[in-house]
Amino acid sequence: MNQKILTQEQISSFYHDEFVADQVRDFGELVDHHPEDGVVVDIGGGCGFFARALSASGGWRTRVIDMDPASIESCTSIGVEGRIGNALAPAVEGDERVVCFNLILHHLVGSSESATRSLQIDALRKWHGRVPTLFVNEYIYQSFLGRLSPRLIFEITSSRMLSLFASMVARIVPSFKANTFGVGVRFRSHEDWCEIFEEAGYKVTKVAIGSPEPIAHPLRLLLIRTIRRDSYRLEPK
Ligand SMILES: C[S@@+](CC[C@H](N)C(=O)[O-])C[C@H]1O[C@@H](n2cnc3c(N)ncnc32)[C@H](O)[C@@H]1O
Repeated sequence: MNQKILTQEQISSFYHDEFVADQVRDFGELVDHHPEDGVVVDIGGGCGFFARALSASGGWRTRVIDMDPASIESCTSIGVEGRIGNALAPAVEGDERVVCFNLILHHLVGSSESATRSLQIDALRKWHGRVPTLFVNEYIYQSFLGRLSPRLIFEITSSRMLSLFASMVARIVPSFKANTFGVGVRFRSHEDWCEIFEEAGYKVTKVAIGSPEPIAHPLRLLLIRTIRRDSYRLEPK
């Protein structure tokens, strides 16, 4: 099963540290402090901003694995250990203690909903039995109708035709703009993510619920009730 990959231009929109403070705070709350035990691996860790902040705040040794060479160059330039690698086939070096998935799972998108679900589960399963703890920070989209809103966003962003139409609408209504048009993005509700974790073989042992983010009025048409970023500590069942 193949991941649909964002273009370099799309990926470069993530070269910022906007969410790092929240992620480091949640990591501190959720993960027990044992920096001497091993390395924190940040899968899809981008430019290394989370890894750098975590080392500075808790003394953790960190390593970023990302498929984007420019991000790994940035890691090196700020003194963070980085490896070009794939979340779906990560190199395991044997010194890992905690593995983080910060805002990457929703980018593991395949050609259909079921392929996407399998990719997201697969990335988590790669570390099953290899580390005692996973830390996941993800977008939560709660809907007014079941789990509809994040599914609608997936269907629109992963379809070329619908993405073309949506990007034309976004010229008039900028809040419809998405940097994943034509490739797809798969946000989920809290319940849906928990089912994915369970299916991957993990139990959720701690959760940090994020603050609700502002929702632009036009986006309410997608029946979005809440958008927030939650963090989870996962342990193998
Ligand atoms: C939205 S950015 C998140 C960056 C950072 N973790 C954060 O929370 O701000 C997603 C990152 O995942 C990386 N990525 C996407 N698919 C990947 C894969 N299969 N293997 C490794 N990295 C991947 C992208 O290159 C990008 O750096």
